[in-house]
Amino acid sequence: LKVLMVAPELAPLIKVGGLADVVGALSKALAAKGHDVRIVIPKYAGLRHDETEQPLDQPLVVHLGDHEAYARVWEMPLPESRATCYLLEHDEFFNRASVYTGPSGNEKDNGRRFTFLSRAAIDLCYHLDWMPDVVHCHDWATGLVPVYLNTNERDAPMGCAASLMTVHNMQHQGWFPPDLMAYAGLPASVYRPDGLESGGELNMLKGGIYHSTKITTVSPTYAKEIQAPDGGCGLHDLLRYRAGDLIGVINGVDYSEWDPGTDKLLPHNYSLKDMSGKAACKQALQEAFSLKVDPHVPVFTVVSRLVDQKGLDLLAAIGDRLMQTMQIQIAILGTGDPALEHLFRDLAARHPGRFAAYTGFNNQLAHLVPAGADFLLMPSRFEPCGLSQLYSMIYGAPPVVRATGGLIDTVEQYIEGEGKGTGFLFHDATPDALYDTIGWACSTYYDRPDDFRQLQLNGMSRNYGWDESAAKYEQIYRWAIEARLGG
Ligand code: ADP
Ligand code: GLC
Repeated sequence: LKVLMVAPELAPLIKVGGLADVVGALSKALAAKGHDVRIVIPKYAGLRHDETEQPLDQPLVVHLGDHEAYARVWEMPLPESRATCYLLEHDEFFNRASVYTGPSGNEKDNGRRFTFLSRAAIDLCYHLDWMPDVVHCHDWATGLVPVYLNTNERDAPMGCAASLMTVHNMQHQGWFPPDLMAYAGLPASVYRPDGLESGGELNMLKGGIYHSTKITTVSPTYAKEIQAPDGGCGLHDLLRYRAGDLIGVINGVDYSEWDPGTDKLLPHNYSLKDMSGKAACKQALQEAFSLKVDPHVPVFTVVSRLVDQKGLDLLAAIGDRLMQTMQIQIAILGTGDPALEHLFRDLAARHPGRFAAYTGFNNQLAHLVPAGADFLLMPSRFEPCGLSQLYSMIYGAPPVVRATGGLIDTVEQYIEGEGKGTGFLFHDATPDALYDTIGWACSTYYDRPDDFRQLQLNGMSRNYGWDESAAKYEQIYRWAIEARLGG
């Protein structure tokens, strides 16, 4: 199959969250199966690529509503993969480090930036004289692609391509003033409640969901949750209307990046057969976070964007109580909400050597943390899939998670005395429920060391790879192509 991926992020080139990991790893898995996979992303400032590469000879002409714009296109292989990526260089929109947000919040011109990406992805196919069978779009930033395919492109060659919209997060929908329609050059007829319009604004994700041939989201449980008012963030009726085309496919892990046995970012490697490297990683983690070096105390960790979704305010609320009542250490790697960053730095200042927070984005630490950790904390209010808990299970750090979305589908509840499960789940999004569950994990560590070891081994020996999910995407692509040709 010929698959065009359109995305705002792509690991390992540019990453804000798990979407980048998924686009990179899924593309790689599909290309390894022999599909022709090409990925289009913006060329942000500072994006790592080989400077010896040359751009395509001819600039790409991007056909916007009232004018034509140009982009330089850089073609390069996706590192360690058979997929090809195209980086769109257009300084006015992308010559800045931020993907969605800068220091003062959302980039003001996000509407135009991602309209440009969506239109350019289609124009690039003509430019390359390469017609994909399916265009796979990721989140709101690519929501206009299916709309273009159904309207301006309907009778053009690209109109034959099926589209798949993958929703990684319903909370971000991309709302913009309606004058974006003119900039995009879309017909006014699609600006209506059963289309792009939502409460007087243009809603990119809504348009994408409405117009795409098929829709997926990143876990089966989240696929159900978003059809209810709480999870649907205003779009549950539309998702129910399209329920027959909506499928939940769980994210996988790229083991060439995330395997404690081979991970090049770790100071020591380890595996099920020989866990001594994990103890050395724990020491390295304690040193890196200025925690007291102590092999016996359990280290609870966080690797997360610090946003409301992740429920880490619940942890901040019980930080002092945990330090006063339990023999544990806590290490946080995260960035986001300044108020939450501040709370965690304050906790670290009050409990030196026992509570630590690194408030920044650091990929090397994102690998060291699960390797050195005994537990991961993920008290998410909602979680479409989550990758951090998968990484931590693979690295032998059982996660403590709230029972929601993809966390339900990936973490198996520990059964005391039986050594069953891969982590600890709790239901209420309250500080007390989190506190009690950390207590349960802590007492398992101290009082039932055989169970704890079994939990570690269970997670490390499960297969969270892409094989099954990549095969599901292949099947969904074929359904979408059939439906497109039939309809
Ligand atoms: P989300 O996509 O909602 O942020 P996921 O769990 O799916 O949540 O993915 C988060 C990804 O981002 C993981 O790969 C995790 O390691 C990474 N990550 C999160 N915070 C940081 C950080 N501060 N530094 C480096 N990597 C981070
Ligand atoms: C989103 C979700 C996260 C998911 C990731 C990749 O950022 O918040 O749960 O794992 O996308 O699909």
